[in-house]
Amino acid sequence: MTTNQRIYSITNKSLQHSDDSSKSASNADLRHENLGQVLTSDVVAELMVDLLVESLEGNLILDPCIGKNIFFETLERKERETGKSFIKVGVEVDSRIPPRDWFSQRNDRKLYLQNFFDFTPSEKFDGIIMNPPYVRQEDLANSVVNSKQRIIRALERNYLHYIEKKQNLYVYFFMKAHEVLKDYGKLVAICYDSWLYTRFGKLFKRFLDENFQIQKIIHFEESAFVNADVGATVLQVSKLPLNSKQERRYAFKYVKFKELEDYKKKDVVPVTEACTLADLSIMDEELFRFPRNTFIRLSDLTRGEIRRGLSPRANKFFLFDEPKFKETVPIIKEVKRINGFIVLPTALKYIIKADGTTVSRELQTYLDDVRVKITRTGRYNSNKRKIGPDERWHEIKFVQPGNFIINYYMRKNVKFIYNPKNYYASDNFYIFDINIDPLLAIALLNCIITKIGVLKNSRTQGKGLRKIQLYEFREVPILNPAVLETEKTNELKKLGSRLISAEESNYDEVLCEIDQIVLDVYNKTVNTNVSLREVHEFFRKKMGKRS
Ligand SMILES: C[S@@+](CC[C@H](N)C(=O)[O-])C[C@H]1O[C@@H](n2cnc3c(N)ncnc32)[C@H](O)[C@@H]1O
Repeated sequence: MTTNQRIYSITNKSLQHSDDSSKSASNADLRHENLGQVLTSDVVAELMVDLLVESLEGNLILDPCIGKNIFFETLERKERETGKSFIKVGVEVDSRIPPRDWFSQRNDRKLYLQNFFDFTPSEKFDGIIMNPPYVRQEDLANSVVNSKQRIIRALERNYLHYIEKKQNLYVYFFMKAHEVLKDYGKLVAICYDSWLYTRFGKLFKRFLDENFQIQKIIHFEESAFVNADVGATVLQVSKLPLNSKQERRYAFKYVKFKELEDYKKKDVVPVTEACTLADLSIMDEELFRFPRNTFIRLSDLTRGEIRRGLSPRANKFFLFDEPKFKETVPIIKEVKRINGFIVLPTALKYIIKADGTTVSRELQTYLDDVRVKITRTGRYNSNKRKIGPDERWHEIKFVQPGNFIINYYMRKNVKFIYNPKNYYASDNFYIFDINIDPLLAIALLNCIITKIGVLKNSRTQGKGLRKIQLYEFREVPILNPAVLETEKTNELKKLGSRLISAEESNYDEVLCEIDQIVLDVYNKTVNTNVSLREVHEFFRKKMGKRS
């Protein structure tokens, strides 16, 4: 134990300023280091201090990486308002930034200029408040101050099984913080929300789950820090003793704001859910890999080009609910009229398809009438331009139909629709001809892995709407039917057939069976272990994102 540590551990009331320069990193070390110096804003500091104080028993508090000391300065304002008092212990490795004078002014403040991973207090803390540095594992590899070696040395005794190669520095700060907290002591921390989206986040979640009781997580999806435009989570947790066998599948409060500005406005109602950590498994899109051979492009599964449907004009005069003339043909116009996964006649409208030579007398009379109406109205300019010398003004360019269509504007879901009768489709659809068994195609195209491929290639239009461009759509990865064993192919065909004949209430059940088969193949070939619940949750959250 060092003298400095003894000072506050023996008598909390007589804390002294401690500047153990021998332990702080040298300026030469620091010059080339990424120390993750992203600062907490006043408003977030205020929120975090409130969360700490409301749940705290005892008065010994640590900030293990104080930076410019935003938390303790905020805490002191709270002390004045509430009459409570706390002993404030700060650690910071970069001796250039903390306000040393502030710490030396009073004896209930103490500063350790040293590396948190070397910090071995003899008394544990009642509370910890922190904004741990965010440093990617690639940068840790080149770090002197936060070298992997030093971190592992500090944590291996109790936390080795929570350590993995790809973790970010902030994860290790949570482990070290756990070590220096009293049992049932409180931790309030803000960190980047990357743990919700990344593979390393999975192990971090397990660490949190097994070592803390979570009270609240507040999620700012964007712009949470002063000098970094990223999302963040504020966690309010209390320490469970190491190896306690406590039941941990409890629900905590998860509060989500789109950005910090929404929180500041106070009148924006946050999304509040009671959930478990498992519910929070929002995975990274990068987790989904689509290796060649196992996956092929959608355009490799089609005969001919994928194309956009035809552009009808002056719908009022050219589209009908019934086949009004000999020259009308069925067309799929509105996606909302297609209930399931197959186009049925009830979904159709009818459009005039006539070239100049074969117009019937009825249609000709109708067209003459329409021509007069269009010329008189202020609307339908494109038709008007054609009317005049052009006798074939009513003709539009028909686009070759295909056996599958998809609406390229998507809300909440992605749905590939089988069009076995090759009806024409309008220009809100992409049209294509699939060159494998259509029943197998229905299953493969509508499985969750394809949907995630569509999601990845599409873009948000705001307000929960997404759009996929034609060139992006051609590239959507599809599980290569050639990698499927015959048995699986047959099962999928059967499920494809069930999907087009199912009642709406059974869609989810059939889709889940399809997803499970495809996911098993995916996990095996990509050598991963993603659960159905995780992929569904990922898709639901990402697809429903408003921007
Ligand atoms: C994200 S900043 C937070 C600063 C301040 N608490 C705030 O919220 O504005 C993280 C701080 O941790 C410091 N730091 C980085 N590695 C450290 C280590 N191993 N031990 C102690 N402090 C460290 C950095 O210098 C930086 O000041």
